[in-house]
Amino acid sequence: MPNKELIERAKQIREKAYTPYSKFPVGAALKTKSGVIYEGCNIENAAYPVTCCAERVAIFKAVSDGERDFSELAVVADTTRPVPPCGSCRQVMSEFFPSDLTIYTSNLSGEIKSMTMEELLPFSFNQSDLTKD
Ligand code: THU
Repeated sequence: MPNKELIERAKQIREKAYTPYSKFPVGAALKTKSGVIYEGCNIENAAYPVTCCAERVAIFKAVSDGERDFSELAVVADTTRPVPPCGSCRQVMSEFFPSDLTIYTSNLSGEIKSMTMEELLPFSFNQSDLTKD
């Protein structure tokens, strides 16, 4: 069963997004194993590539608070299909999320697509690839 409360929190924080350039607000909500929810929205910049996606804002807020153990992530945008997280966010997620962590992607129509980290980013480059054994 999708975590509707987490999805709702992602939807709410989306309203705080700073998106003067794309006008495409996104919200994310990340739950820790201890039950704390960190929210994030996308924050854009006149130098476009400096923009940070909602998912990464939520993850960086949590990690900078000392959190490392996560259980679920929800992402919401006003898209036709449930919003697919970008490649950079998938890579950041894979740094901190176990392969079986569930990610809920959703849209304002209430459609929900649930997947695991492994399904979202298979064959990901990770720490173990940095050293040859
Ligand atoms: N964006 C996110 O915040 N998360 C996603 O999963 C997809 C894209 C943002 C980045 C940029 O501010 C806007 O959406 C358009 O790409």
